[in-house]
Amino acid sequence: DHHRARIEFDPRFTVAEVPARLFGSFVEHLGRCVYTGIYEPDHPSANADGLREDVLELIRELGPTMIRYPGGNFVSGYRWEDGVGPKEDRPRRLDLAWGVTETNQFGLGEFMKFCRTVGVEPNMAVNLGTRGLQEALDLFEYANHPSGTYWSDLRRSHGDEEPYGIKLWCLGNEMDGPWQIGQRTATEYGRIADQTARALRMIDGSGDLDLVACGSSSRGMPFFGAWENEVLTHTYESVDYISAHAYYQPQDGDLASFMASAQDMELFIDGVIATADAVGAKLKSDKKINISFDEWNVWYMHAPSGERDEPWPVAPRQLEDVYSAMDAVVFGSLLITLLRRCDRVTAACLAQLVNVIAPIMTEPGGPAWRQTTFFPFAEASKYGRGTVLNVNADSPVFETKKFGEVPALHSVAVANEDGSVTVFAVNRDLETPMTLEIDASSIQAGDVTVSTLTGERDAKNTLDDQDRVAPAANGDVTVKDGTITIELPAMSWNTIRIA
Ligand code: AHR
Repeated sequence: DHHRARIEFDPRFTVAEVPARLFGSFVEHLGRCVYTGIYEPDHPSANADGLREDVLELIRELGPTMIRYPGGNFVSGYRWEDGVGPKEDRPRRLDLAWGVTETNQFGLGEFMKFCRTVGVEPNMAVNLGTRGLQEALDLFEYANHPSGTYWSDLRRSHGDEEPYGIKLWCLGNEMDGPWQIGQRTATEYGRIADQTARALRMIDGSGDLDLVACGSSSRGMPFFGAWENEVLTHTYESVDYISAHAYYQPQDGDLASFMASAQDMELFIDGVIATADAVGAKLKSDKKINISFDEWNVWYMHAPSGERDEPWPVAPRQLEDVYSAMDAVVFGSLLITLLRRCDRVTAACLAQLVNVIAPIMTEPGGPAWRQTTFFPFAEASKYGRGTVLNVNADSPVFETKKFGEVPALHSVAVANEDGSVTVFAVNRDLETPMTLEIDASSIQAGDVTVSTLTGERDAKNTLDDQDRVAPAANGDVTVKDGTITIELPAMSWNTIRIA
């Protein structure tokens, strides 16, 4: 059995420029993402700021452009003041979101140093769960006001003379979720988000802030749609983005639907955009609200989440999913959807960055290594820059329980700034390999190089076998009369560079 698929594109027909913020990631105070993930002062590779150099190196290779912080569910109970000033004076607190003790040895100042060291944009979330407008204003003034006030001078007294200039802010996190500390109704949240947004803009004065209102925590939330409608009715003129979060895992052994997870992401995006644009029309606004897809990934939510010898532990192993080759292919397909829809999804965050459902794993005092999902992200961030092109595709389909018939080929083409074109292509069929023909007659196809990630379904990279799964050069390529022909293995992620 063998599939044949064909795609064509033309650099004159474009979708949108790839926004820099599409390749964001996420660092939450959760498990070992911060402590013994990015921050471990006693680690042999730690720099003067306590950041692990081995992890920093992998983060640079991964290529995130922006990082959301400090949560996630954590932020809804967080007092940001606990994490600034002399470390010996910082209080230990109960973190109700994850049932742990937070030491506060890492906070806003350390996060900003981390962002500068890696070269990423910060995306800061405020607590609209247990706290509200005033504390958000205090935090904003501490972070962004130059000097001459209580909070700005406090920052300077902590050694940061220059304001942080954080432009991108999340107004709370998943406020629709019953698991959220301080969960709110859409009306309550819409009101407080609008008030917070308007007051932050008063302090800012630059006219250059980008604010994210919380959308639904998933497409399956009971109030999906109604939530966005109500929240945006309150915030339409005061915010820039509405958020979306989505995590995927196989359910009841239904692997075909899992391979087609990007279908759900597309329906989610379509639904949010339709609601947002309808609110805009109702309010007779010229403005467009875009999506910040600020949590997305594969997540085995029912995987055991680490043992606990004691209650309220510090930085225990939580959500340390180990990803398979199959997971990496699904993950790559999600990236393809984000690229294909980047006209309206103009920010996104892979949740999360290190150890917690993450592309990078570490051992305390030990090594750091790449999970299978590391590779699609690194390749997309490196080669998926420029302009997304309209792709016409002709693909065989496979049957899924959740989404009906789904094309086996999932692809996107990006015209890169250097004149080359990169096609990302996933063969979503678990069993059947595919011959892909790319009609490249609209461009000069010179050199074609293909990198392919595939493998046994369950193959994983672990502490003891860190490099088992990695992309490899795919030599099954021919170029003839403007047509590129490539063999895509079943269940594979492929990066096709046409120079
Ligand atoms: O990323 C893990 C958790 O998933 C986040 O804390 C929360 O926002 C979401 O439910």
